[in-house]
Formats: sequence, structure tokens, C-alpha cells
Amino acid sequence: MRFLVINGPNLDLLGSRQPEVYGSATLADLEEQIAVWGSEMGAEVETEQTNSEERIIEWVHGFDGDGIVINPGAFTHTSRAIGDAILGVDPPVVEVHISNVRNREPWRSVSVISDSCVRTIYGRGIGGYRDAMRHLVNRAAMPFETSKYGPHVENVGDLRRGGDHLVVLAHGGLWRQEFERDTTESLAVDLTRRGYSTWNIEYRRVGVGGGWPASGHDVLMALEFVPQLGIAPERISLISHSVGSPLMMWAAPRMSAPPRIHVALGPLLDLEAAVEHDDTGSAECQAMLAQGAPDPGPQGIPTVLVHGDRDQIVPVDRSVAFARHHGLEHHRTDCDHFSLLDPTKPEWTWTLDRIGSGHDLSG
Ligand code: DQA
Repeated sequence: MRFLVINGPNLDLLGSRQPEVYGSATLADLEEQIAVWGSEMGAEVETEQTNSEERIIEWVHGFDGDGIVINPGAFTHTSRAIGDAILGVDPPVVEVHISNVRNREPWRSVSVISDSCVRTIYGRGIGGYRDAMRHLVNRAAMPFETSKYGPHVENVGDLRRGGDHLVVLAHGGLWRQEFERDTTESLAVDLTRRGYSTWNIEYRRVGVGGGWPASGHDVLMALEFVPQLGIAPERISLISHSVGSPLMMWAAPRMSAPPRIHVALGPLLDLEAAVEHDDTGSAECQAMLAQGAPDPGPQGIPTVLVHGDRDQIVPVDRSVAFARHHGLEHHRTDCDHFSLLDPTKPEWTWTLDRIGSGHDLSG
């Protein structure tokens, strides 16, 4: 695959420009990182930076590869011409912002480019460029259909069609608005390649209509929507990551047709302890707890926990204690919080095995 990464105005100042907002990496550091990420994904990546709108438009017109990642800088908020250029060409374009443009001055939350792009990734620091390229890789690997399962704009999910065993995935990200379902997409693509159908769901997070109980209700609504997806699954299994896990654990026993198994990856299940010990530094977690997010329990759903010993977001001991308390199967692996989202990592085979044998574990 061949990608073009375009950085727009003032991004040549990265490193010295408002480091409290944009971080300490320079443009050269960023471009070096992008090359490393590209080669890890098997992609050839060209990087460009300019302060000129005209040059951005010409680069968009001239690129005939597989996808473009663009951070249009402040042109994001004004340039209909860049939006039109993107609409006029074939390669899918992902819009990236290093900072959380939705938590800053109100004018920054307006993008006149987003509607022309296949995805917008913001507020994840320079890691957003990696996530944008990974999304392009995943889009190219496997087609999907996005369906709305509820009234809110966040009530959507991506269906990838495979066989009649459906796996529903709920992503994590500390209930922060900037972390979305692209984070569990690589697992969905891998599962679909292996013959499963997958329903990778979005839900409202804190700051975009979510909180407790809204986020839990979204997950339940997405699960109950399955019969309307136009597939007739004989079996439904669940995979969740991080803070997706307590939502899934709350919703699973409330489903009209109980799932076969729930595999929770790096789950944050003891919210009270996480807030008390400030594991995550997440104001969103505090908000969820203050709104009364319940202590989840598996309530008869066969549930297994997979947790990395080197998890720096959710300490492994918390999930060991939870598993002991509820008598659940628990698997410790030598990895961090995010490796559990990478289907090329060895720990994934363990999850695959549990999903494949979910019917044997029920009851
Ligand atoms: C930016 C956000 C824009 O609002 C700003 O004008 C930039 C950088 C970002 O990466 O966060 O130049 O796109």
C-alpha cells in the first residue's frame, strides 16, 4: 500500500509551537515515526509539509496511491477548496489533528473538511497519524457497512460480513470522546478474515452525549439491533476492551438472547478503585462513577478476562482480584494495554481460541 501524509500550515513549527498543546516532537521526529509505523504496516509512506493551501490541493490531486492522511492545520476551519479537492479524487482521506480540537476554542471544533473525509482522528497526539494509517489499511483489507442502531450520531456500528457466528466488539478509551471504534477495527478485520461476522460498535462517550447510564444503554441497543443487520447469527460472542468491558458486562445479561461468551481484554472493571487510586487520570472515569455507573458482574454470562502484566492503564492486579471474586477464568500475558488490540500479537490466539470454543464454555 502507498500512502501520502500531508501536514499543513504551522506544523513545521512542531516541537517549539505550543508544546503544551502539540507536544515536544518536531516535524522531523513525526515524519520519522510515520516511516516506522508505515513499514510496520507494510506500507510505503511519503510525507509532505507546506504552509500553502495551493500546494496541499495540488498534492491531493496528484496522488494516485491507496490513501491520504491530512492534517490541514488551520485550513481545517476555513478551506472549502481543500474539502472539494478531497471530494474530487479517489483515494480515501483521513483527517488528523494532534490536539483535541473539540475541547479548545469553539471555532476549532468546526471542520469544513470532515465531510469529505472517511474518518477524523483528533486529540491522540502524534499517535493519531499511526491510527489514521491503520484505519486506511483496515478499510482496504475488508469492506464494511456502517449502520445506525439508534437515534444519536454516535449510535453506529460497522458490520463486516462473514459466517453465522457474529462477534460484537466494544472499544475502550477511558470514555474520552477522542477514542473511537477504529481502535478495535484490526481485531474485527482479523476475525472476519477467519470467517466470523463482526459488528464493531460505537457508543456515546463522556462529552458527546454519553455517561451513565447513556453509554450502557447504547451498548445494549447495539446488541439488540443485531437481528436488524440482515444476518441471522446462530451464535453471538462478545469482545470488549478496557472501559468497553464494564458496558458490555452490564449489557450482556440484559440481551434477549444471551451471548455464548464475553472475552474482556485489559478490562477496567473496578471503577471505584481506578478512580480512588487515579489509575487513569481520566476525568471521564470520575464522571461515570459520580453518575452512578454500577459495579459490573458477569451475571451468568461465561466471561473470561485477558490482561497484560505490563498494562499501564489498568493494573493487572485489579482484574485478577475481580476474576477471583466472581470465579472467572483469567489469563495473564506478558504485554501492555494496547497490544491486546493487535491481531499479530501472540496473545490474540488465546482470545481466538476462547471465541472459537465459546459454546463449550457456556453454562
Ligand atoms: C491542528 C488543530 C488546528 O486547529 C490548528 O490550527 C493546527 C493544528 C492539530 O493538529 O491539532 O494548526 O490541526
